[in-house]
Amino acid sequence: MSLKQYLKRGIKYIINGQPVLHTTANIVTSSWNDLLKDKRILITGGSKGIGFSMAKKFVSEGAKVMITGRNEDSLKTVADELGCMYWCMDVSNTDKVCQQFKNVDEQIGGFNCLINNAGISLHEKSFFDVTVNQFDSQFSTNLKGGYFLTQCFTDICKGGEITAKLSLSLLNEVFL
Ligand SMILES: NC(=O)c1ccc[n+]([C@@H]2O[C@H](COP(=O)([O-])OP(=O)(O)OC[C@H]3O[C@@H](n4cnc5c(N)ncnc54)[C@H](OP(=O)(O)O)[C@@H]3O)[C@@H](O)[C@H]2O)c1
Repeated sequence: MSLKQYLKRGIKYIINGQPVLHTTANIVTSSWNDLLKDKRILITGGSKGIGFSMAKKFVSEGAKVMITGRNEDSLKTVADELGCMYWCMDVSNTDKVCQQFKNVDEQIGGFNCLINNAGISLHEKSFFDVTVNQFDSQFSTNLKGGYFLTQCFTDICKGGEITAKLSLSLLNEVFL
């Protein structure tokens, strides 16, 4: 706004008084309950942690969930507890995972959504303790695995949704 306009407004306020502003808002609340109903969701790394919490919430919202992980015993225990399916796989083993993905996708009737959650963190003790093997393993799991699984998913499940890793604070707000 120009100086002239400020002055004009000032004079107007002096003569007429400052206007009272009213703001109206239409607040619409919608139920979350049906958003995920019958959606077929693949969560990598769902046997514990954030993936587990997502799986639990999605199942409670009526989604058909499949969790993945490397340890079959814990996957089975969690899948029984939550009432979901599981796929034992190592996401860093990209060739094998992409070969198997098509069959798994067919079994479930076509995924609507992929959540790339599986990941490891090897740098938490000390920066100086990280070895080259650990570094490679973390990148193969957290980055390469999710990247190539997303490639298979987008190729096969056209029109689906992909979520990248979410921040823990966001998940706390949304799900926990
Ligand atoms: N927790 C945090 O504060 C935090 C912060 C920022 C980002 N994140 C990211 O959020 C994600 C989940 O974290 P979280 O704390 O919930 O982890 P978590 O409790 O350690 O759980 C990791 C899950 O991923 C699976 N997993 C690990 N490596 C795998 C592989 N190669 N192939 C398939 N599954 C694999 C694990 O099962 P198996 O061991 O049986 O394979 C487990 O189900 C990770 O990607 C992490 O990097 C976490």
